[in-house]
Amino acid sequence: MKTKIILDVDPGHDDAVAILVAAKHEKLDLRGITVVAGNQVLEKTLQNALKVCSFAGIDVPVYAGQDRPLLRDQVIADDIHGDSGLDGPQFPPPTKRAEEKSAVDFIIEECLQHDREIVLVPTGPLTNIALALLKEPRIKQGIKEIVLMGGAYGLGNVTPSAEFNIFVDPEAAHIVFESGLPITMVGLDLTHQAKAYPEVVERIRRLGTPVAELVVELFAFFGDTYKRVFGFEAPPLHDVCAVAHVIDPTLIKTQKVPVVVETTRGACYGRTVCDFYFKTGKPANVHVAMELDQKRFWDLVIDTLSKY
Ligand code: BDR
Ligand code: CA
Repeated sequence: MKTKIILDVDPGHDDAVAILVAAKHEKLDLRGITVVAGNQVLEKTLQNALKVCSFAGIDVPVYAGQDRPLLRDQVIADDIHGDSGLDGPQFPPPTKRAEEKSAVDFIIEECLQHDREIVLVPTGPLTNIALALLKEPRIKQGIKEIVLMGGAYGLGNVTPSAEFNIFVDPEAAHIVFESGLPITMVGLDLTHQAKAYPEVVERIRRLGTPVAELVVELFAFFGDTYKRVFGFEAPPLHDVCAVAHVIDPTLIKTQKVPVVVETTRGACYGRTVCDFYFKTGKPANVHVAMELDQKRFWDLVIDTLSKY
């Protein structure tokens, strides 16, 4: 049976590839794509989701979500994703339109209609998910698990302590991490193992399709910014790791430990504090992603992209 997922995104170069993989893999039933402000303002992340879906012929409803974090001031990542949030490729104007319903209401309705079946896959700030949990706590009944890209037990990428998705809305992340739902945190420690080196890019280029060409162009822009900002030799495909984990949980080794999100506004604001030595006495609440089987990950991604 296919796994029912809702992909909550802020495209974003890696979000765009996450959409392509989630929409095409035969093990997933992508119920909807919900969009949140993050890498860019909502107006832009929404357009980007619609552009990617239109370009690739993805027939999945897209819902506009929250345009700002729950409490804090807005933060964007134009240094990484550019002014549009998806700089690099030239897209034709999108033919697809967003649904009337809001992302939060869609998540609520979908979860209320199912019994522990829905996997939420957030690859942006957790604003939409937290708000859905606040507005209708009974949605927990419908959720099987949350597999999110965000956080780090090591270094952050937007401050020394914090990863971007969590830092953009730490209060929302706190609500999600304390929800009692099964959570897998696919953080930077894992996603930095998913760098798209030239041999990977070449394998994708050789697919020879318009979607493959799009992915190569996305990697080119993302690769340049990752080189400039972080000195990385190749861009890490963060968000795709979360989708891949849902498709095949054997690709990523995890460790279940207590994790809290720091919401005090100091140097550690937005840090995911992971208690690997169980020093806090808190119950283990999060499966933290540790190790990626890189070969099988890329085989899965490239095989899925070859279906376009
Ligand atoms: C995360 O932040 C965004 O820039 C990426 O899309 C990814 O979701 C990595 O920290
Ligand atoms: Ca993202």
